[in-house]
Amino acid sequence: MNSRIFLIGFMGSGKSTLGSKLAYRIGYDFIDMDRLIEETAELSIPAIFSEHGEEVFRKWESDILHELCHREKVVIATGGGAPCHSTLMDVMNSHGTTVYIRLSPEELKSRLIRSRTERPLIKGKSEEELIEYINKLLEQREDYYNKASMVVNGINLQSEELARQLLDS
Ligand code: S3P
Repeated sequence: MNSRIFLIGFMGSGKSTLGSKLAYRIGYDFIDMDRLIEETAELSIPAIFSEHGEEVFRKWESDILHELCHREKVVIATGGGAPCHSTLMDVMNSHGTTVYIRLSPEELKSRLIRSRTERPLIKGKSEEELIEYINKLLEQREDYYNKASMVVNGINLQSEELARQLLDS
């Protein structure tokens, strides 16, 4: 198995939950990139967006991802936008196995509505605005997500099954 497993996918696709379970199962460290950015900046993601702006967030995201490419035996849950800028998808593909957790826009919408995590990109959107936003953004982002080494269906995805697929790949 590759020493670095990058979980990628849209906001709300379950990268962090699945990533920590997967890491435990295969004996790797688990790193949630957003949490690492927050710890490094000593600011929450919403505060980074409001105080510094999205461009600065993307720069920090890129810096941290490049650093993580030197770690061994890690499962990394990336932020939903990380693969889609600064050639980060190619960087991840050349340093590890990338796994796209795919879900339909409807499924993402209902998960995001239920989620308690504050996400600046979708804050304050009505249900109607949210589905429209997901449809549009997902269409753009899938050009990047689909470059992943593996694409898996995010519905009822178990860490055991994913570990098995990774071993077979
Ligand atoms: C973002 C997704 C978030 C976080 C930031 C931006 C995005 O992470 O990195 O709010 O651009 O899709 P999750 O995918 O964990 O929600």
